[in-house]
Amino acid sequence: MGQISRRTILAGAAAAVALGRPAIAQAAPLKVGMMLPFSGTYAALGENIASAFELLIAENGGKLAGRPVTLIRLDDESDPAKAPANVNRLTERDNVDVLLGTVHSGVVMALVQAAREKQIPLFIPNAGNVAATRELCSPSVFRSSFSNWQPAYGMGRALATRGVKKAAWVTWDYAAGKESGEGFRDGLRAGGAEMTHQLTVPFPETNFQPILAQISGLGVEAVGSFFAGGGAIQFVKDYAAAGLRDKVQLCGSGFLTEGVLKPQGAAAEGILTALHYGDGLDNAKNLAFRAVFKAKTGRDADVYAVQGYDAGQMLLAGLVAAKGDAAAVQALAAGIRAAKIDSPRGAFTLSASHNPVQTIWLRQAKDGQNKVIGAAVEALADPGAGCKMAGA
Ligand code: BEZ
Repeated sequence: MGQISRRTILAGAAAAVALGRPAIAQAAPLKVGMMLPFSGTYAALGENIASAFELLIAENGGKLAGRPVTLIRLDDESDPAKAPANVNRLTERDNVDVLLGTVHSGVVMALVQAAREKQIPLFIPNAGNVAATRELCSPSVFRSSFSNWQPAYGMGRALATRGVKKAAWVTWDYAAGKESGEGFRDGLRAGGAEMTHQLTVPFPETNFQPILAQISGLGVEAVGSFFAGGGAIQFVKDYAAAGLRDKVQLCGSGFLTEGVLKPQGAAAEGILTALHYGDGLDNAKNLAFRAVFKAKTGRDADVYAVQGYDAGQMLLAGLVAAKGDAAAVQALAAGIRAAKIDSPRGAFTLSASHNPVQTIWLRQAKDGQNKVIGAAVEALADPGAGCKMAGA
């Protein structure tokens, strides 16, 4: 079909409707722009999201709702400064029908802005920036992952339940870490405990010595944290090397140990984390997904792969409802809102502001696995405060 633009299809669709023909030719390719980090500290996260999304498409014979899918990969380098130009390339040069992205909470804002202004459906397969499903919520923005608040809230609640009274929060200094800190604080408070300190390091710096040197003197029983990818490997190793592992319980949003337990090695043993996924979740969907993902990629599935796969499942549900027309945003949104997504994490639905309502599991790192040891909070919804969308 060549380089037919989204606008050309829309113009053609309007004419077709006037003639009483189906709006979208079944054979028209659906262009999906995958804007993810394929380099830098979050590269492994981006690769697992992309591979799992591709897996979902392959399982559907390369088509979604009858339309052959064309994927366009773009490395966003987790760099917020480059995000507006990168998004523009996908929407204006490549004329994508659907956006998939991204990992970093700062970078995702350019995608959210484009999705809102141009009414291009956006599926967020990781970035937890709360604004995307709070004040900037939109009929065209959907998240298959979490809000930054959710896992950290679960961690705070679980610590308080285990009797911790005072904890500190340690994080990279950007939206994901700060918003996770708010969740951690709220979870501790809900259980009668408090967050007494917050220590930060610029993203993506990995010189943690200045903050590690302060921890023993804080008078806290636990340290909660937000780090992920390459930075999480370094932080966990440095925490153990500083002799803190047996003195102050290390915990955090599950990204701290997710997908990185092998390189963290013995330094990670015993770390408590909270996340909407765990390696050993014993449901048929998870077991099948992990086996197929391993066979396809040679890598173990993790939460990032699950989120990429579920973004594909959500897009499929929406497209089926919209009869293959990604530009029919209201019909697409109605289909996704009505869907129960059969996820490896356990089935979930979206909140009115398009964020998963999901159980946050408490996990402990043991023998190279993030073992689920209970539910931190069941069916947790992000507060969705400030979302003005109809029905939200
Ligand atoms: C974020 O920037 O939202 C993020 C990045 C990595 C893991 C989790 C959240």
